Amino acid sequence: MDHFEYRDGRLFCEQIDLSELAHRAGTPLYVYSAATLLLHYDRLAQAFAELNPLICFSVKSCPNIHVLRLLASRGSGLDVVSGGELYRARMARVPMDKVVYAGVGKTDDEIRDALGRLGDDRHDPSHVPDADQPIGLFNIESESEFQTLASIARSLGAGTPEMASPEAALRVNPDVDPKTHKYTSTGLKETKFGVDLERARAFFARFGRDRSARLTGLHLHLGSPITDPNVYVRALEKSLALSDDLERDGFPICTLDIGGGFAADYTTGLAPSFDQYARAIVPMLRERAARGLRIILEPGRTICANAGVLLARVLYVKESGDRKFVVCDAGMHTLIRPALYGAFHFIWPAAVGPDHEPTERALRPNVQGTLEECDVVGPVCESGDFLAKDRPLPPVARGDLLTVFGAGAYGMSMASRYNSHPLPAEILVDGDQALVVRRRESYEDLVMHELEAEEL
Ligand SMILES: Cc1ncc(COP(=O)(O)O)c(C=O)c1O
Repeated sequence: MDHFEYRDGRLFCEQIDLSELAHRAGTPLYVYSAATLLLHYDRLAQAFAELNPLICFSVKSCPNIHVLRLLASRGSGLDVVSGGELYRARMARVPMDKVVYAGVGKTDDEIRDALGRLGDDRHDPSHVPDADQPIGLFNIESESEFQTLASIARSLGAGTPEMASPEAALRVNPDVDPKTHKYTSTGLKETKFGVDLERARAFFARFGRDRSARLTGLHLHLGSPITDPNVYVRALEKSLALSDDLERDGFPICTLDIGGGFAADYTTGLAPSFDQYARAIVPMLRERAARGLRIILEPGRTICANAGVLLARVLYVKESGDRKFVVCDAGMHTLIRPALYGAFHFIWPAAVGPDHEPTERALRPNVQGTLEECDVVGPVCESGDFLAKDRPLPPVARGDLLTVFGAGAYGMSMASRYNSHPLPAEILVDGDQALVVRRRESYEDLVMHELEAEEL
């Protein structure tokens, strides 16, 4: 459920008519619904309430600091994977003990930064809120990363009365197939993330008693999107068995971070509900949570994908061979998911006649009016630059506004300036208010760092 709906043929986000908004703000344009972000957060929190989990919204899915602030106002923590995301978390004023940090390639400076001791001069810590506050949990992906964390923490005095040792969870690969695109399958044995279960035992035997960094948790992130809740069940069975073995060997596990990957309804009815995921997962963890195990969830797309749309203007309609192309001002540089993963996004005009008002988001929605198959493509000089192929659409003409639904996750966060297109604007709608939360970039923005060229 979300707050994007057609009223008399015109698409609204909450109380805002999107055709009018695009007229004022230009295109391409990302539009997010505050009410939908909160609705999804609340439903997830309710579904898993019995476990009293810490929900850490995955920053990479939609990193705008206004979105982060909104979710934090509901109690959300954040899952970050870089120093840049940690910087956003601090700028959004999210409490640092609610921040968890994964990622296979944390640099020494990023680790220092996460320990609250900024080590580089890339930004002035005096302007960063809580720059001296350490994060809540490091999700560790390799032996050498743990050694690096422990050695940096030791050099800063961790484990002394002045500085607590950082808490760490080992990211494990339970080797369960998430049945999703190979680029977004992360919990298999052969991926670069985490360590396999056998290695995990040796990992704890080697580092589990370190005093500079406390290895007290397990972390998983299986892939994304996962439309079958049993994937979590299978992964948890293996991970809980590991956790029990570790406890027997004298390594108590206090935190279990089960990652994200919960699906979003890109096609109406495709994704399981939050309750369906919870019905599979909660019974496995109920008793352990009651005994004090801290559960962490890292949802991204399930909260923000359907809380955002991308608005694009049709520039040209052309035919070539037996194909029809709708060329618009958004493309792979604005939303790369179709080109990168073959991902499906429902695309429909923002204003339609009664025969074309859709009641579902599907490849071929059930409407009375005629549809024409087209490729929806962007302006980028790559034949992989498309938003949809062979897509049945109502007749569209130059100047029409198209809506790409389900674009709130991994849309703007993966957008690029390829072909020197400035990044689009982002708008956060709240009721009848529309706030520009990121202004559209200008051509000056494109070159400003090049104008500062200086001798090294
Ligand atoms: C470690 C980690 N946690 C959480 C997520 C969020 O995944 P999703 O947006 O599918 O919930 C990701 C996504 O790649 C991830 O890498």
